[in-house]
Amino acid sequence: MRAFIIPLIFLAGLVGAVDRSNFKTCEQAAFCKRHRTEEKRPEYNVVVDSVKANETGLNAVLESSINKLSLQVVLLEDSIVRILVDEAGTPLRPRFQPLIALDGEPKQARPTALESNPESASFVTPSGNKIILNYKPFRIDFFNSKKELIVSVNSKNLLKFEHFREKPADANNDDGFWEETFKSHKDSKPYGSSSVGVDISFVGYKFLYGLPEHADTVALRSTTNQEPYRLYNLDVFEYELGNGMSLYGAVPYVIANNPSQTVGAFWLNAAETWVDVASSTADKGVLASLVDKFKASKDVPTVDVHFISESGVIDLFILLGPKPADVFRQYAGLTGKYPLPPQFSIAYHQCRWNYNDEQDVAQVNAGFDEHDVPMDAIWLDIEHTDGKKYFTWDPVKFANPIKMLENLASKGRKLITISDPHIKKDDNYPVYKEAKDQGLFVKNADGSDYEGHCWPGASSYLDYLNPAVRNYWASQYHFDKYQGTTKDLFIWNDMNEPSVFSGPEVTMHKDARHHGDWEHRDIHNIYGFLHTISTHQGLVERSDKKIRPFILTRSFFSGSQRVAAVWTGDNMAEWSHLKASIPMMLSLSIGGIPHVGADVGGFFKNVDENLLVRWYQTGAFSPFFRAHAHIDCKRREPWLYSTETLNAIREAIRTRYAFLPYWYTLFYEHSVTGKPILRPLWAEFPEDESSYDEEREFLVGNGLLVRPVTEPDVQQVSLYLPGKKEVWYEWFNDKTRPAPGAVYVDTPLNRIPIFQRGGTIIPIRGRARRSSAQMRNDPITLYVAISMKDFANGTLYLDDGETYDYQNGQFLYWGFTYKKTSEFLYTITSKNLDPKGELDPDVYIEKIVLRGVRYYPRNIHLYYDDYNPENLEFEHDRDQHLVTIRKPGAYVSREWRIDIHT
Ligand code: NOJ
Repeated sequence: MRAFIIPLIFLAGLVGAVDRSNFKTCEQAAFCKRHRTEEKRPEYNVVVDSVKANETGLNAVLESSINKLSLQVVLLEDSIVRILVDEAGTPLRPRFQPLIALDGEPKQARPTALESNPESASFVTPSGNKIILNYKPFRIDFFNSKKELIVSVNSKNLLKFEHFREKPADANNDDGFWEETFKSHKDSKPYGSSSVGVDISFVGYKFLYGLPEHADTVALRSTTNQEPYRLYNLDVFEYELGNGMSLYGAVPYVIANNPSQTVGAFWLNAAETWVDVASSTADKGVLASLVDKFKASKDVPTVDVHFISESGVIDLFILLGPKPADVFRQYAGLTGKYPLPPQFSIAYHQCRWNYNDEQDVAQVNAGFDEHDVPMDAIWLDIEHTDGKKYFTWDPVKFANPIKMLENLASKGRKLITISDPHIKKDDNYPVYKEAKDQGLFVKNADGSDYEGHCWPGASSYLDYLNPAVRNYWASQYHFDKYQGTTKDLFIWNDMNEPSVFSGPEVTMHKDARHHGDWEHRDIHNIYGFLHTISTHQGLVERSDKKIRPFILTRSFFSGSQRVAAVWTGDNMAEWSHLKASIPMMLSLSIGGIPHVGADVGGFFKNVDENLLVRWYQTGAFSPFFRAHAHIDCKRREPWLYSTETLNAIREAIRTRYAFLPYWYTLFYEHSVTGKPILRPLWAEFPEDESSYDEEREFLVGNGLLVRPVTEPDVQQVSLYLPGKKEVWYEWFNDKTRPAPGAVYVDTPLNRIPIFQRGGTIIPIRGRARRSSAQMRNDPITLYVAISMKDFANGTLYLDDGETYDYQNGQFLYWGFTYKKTSEFLYTITSKNLDPKGELDPDVYIEKIVLRGVRYYPRNIHLYYDDYNPENLEFEHDRDQHLVTIRKPGAYVSREWRIDIHT
């Protein structure tokens, strides 16, 4: 058993800031220090006669004065190139690859124009990118179809690959190669160090994004003379803003964008990883001769990235774009998309640590109805269990959970309970006893069960790397095992970095052992992901694959989007944290994880009313929208505040419910295309350089621009409207604003600055109800924002909101188009975009609002066929350029046309 002390930070209450001394710097992580500071590293060369072309790329051996490595350069479908580097020959130990992050084996493709000469070998991709493997020294260059260099791997010669070796009797441990100690924790490193690292240069770029999760800017900063960004999933108490310290999850993926091309690089490694980012120009070094062909090389800005991981192989994917949507699709093709979630999960959720008992839950539930505030789910934190034993209920406070669930379900509401991976050491707890007896726990280096401290006290940790353990955990969710639950209960997976209060850096010891003889160091960053994969399996199984699961996770890795939503953990009730939540959500979104949000109100500290309102308004436009608070915070149900605050919160939540058809359609479209739901401006306007570091505002889909208020007591905010020859409409007053340009908007307490982009059609539902379930058959209103080219289009996806029946045709996906048809005629048409969709609900369009109308309509007719027009009533506000068609009554699942005669 390991000695432990519960760090004081967990008992410290509500004030304070991160205790940095609990977490390593690069200097304190021996491998990071070696990679970062080693001055003279031996160069790797390609062994010329080892180069072999095959059907999908090139293989070769790399050689330095220290070791030999095997290299594979593999062309994948959809303009992706994979670079795999491992030890050559027969290494002493295998190296871990977190292939579970991939959504299946990537499909390989055939290159063309394979060529070689004494200095290099090359091939061309079907989309015209040329990839050149340079031999001396080893370097791989990527050119776009215009023959411009865009990416270069190892141009800085930072490739370093520590091979496994026998520990010499007189091993020198000066550089922490064979053993390391941090605070009181020793890492025994029985195999020594096996770290890997290489540099990637993005040539022609100034801006790089990605690498969630950090509480930092969305555009990555230069780390020169600063700490690198760290990716090592940790439970960081009272995390700080504005630095690259690790947080709960890791997505080792970056995207570079410039006006002509977007590219990405995905570093598939689950071990502790540090990433340096530096800006330079390509006028020095080996790339100069390559770039001066098309520009004076000093004019070519470059971002250099250096990935360093503690173990594993180099498994690097270069995603060649060329546009943001291509890179999003390419990354989603590799790691998967977020499947269509149940509709309740994108509505508003009420959480705190803790709702105390069933009566409390009933009162909160009733409170939302009394105050006319919609709500879809109540959450129960750890105190609902019997002694922090997950899958149990406190026998006194939650004696009748089924009744509680049914009561919620009668209003269309759900319950979410927490289920953490630490298992209380208690032989009377069946999950502990069975897991112990069956050997399902993570082990110490000596083979005994690993033990650490977490909420229940002494705990062991299930080894989710083992498929048998995942099956076991999944089975705990089955109705016969997880008693007191119904299909209306969903799951929150927390503390899954894993958080070990007694462990080094509040996590598991790196020399702990997993299934397959892997060390914890090899798999650390996928532990939480594996936990959620298993939970997801359990929820799918328990409903016999009828009900779509919903899981919220704190820890994540690339690919977690296939099974879970993510929130940004334990933030603070401070304006700075509200502000930081935007870049944090954006980084996650472009990192492939679309269902993201921050604790509304802030987790730690009591929140003031002004901040709370603004946070609700931001939450109303965050993909995941949940209020949450620490156990020591004052209660925060919306009706506990002034009438003004309650009204503003109600309005924010109702606005979310109004936009649910739009959100749900975006979630559906993400599940098909992999496009993020929340988008930085450059994702839609990659050529608009003024928007590259914009993080006060964001887009929801392609149609809505949101600029939350993140400062106290401001009467106005400024924002930037991107695009060329575009027009935007202020949502709440229909004012037309040309782009590009900065504008000021008034922000009284109840106002969220949102803009609709000209050229889009947004479906909303105008009637307030108790929950999203009760809105299922409500009519739709279409907001048509006319572009400078007299055009607009949009989509609507609907289904039952909870089952998998949509996979058997029980859905509808329709498109709406507005256009100028002839000199005096404008038409709106509806069209079935997916004939497989058979759903024909009783849902009709109750209103159409046209923004930006610059003509005088004489009459408006609805046609289901060409013969029987129905005359439609409308109003025309000439000053506001607004036409409102009052009751078109057209069904959303039928083809129709509306003619507007001028
Ligand atoms: C940590 C989580 O981040 C927080 O949201 C939760 O309330 C506590 N654990 C207690 O479960």
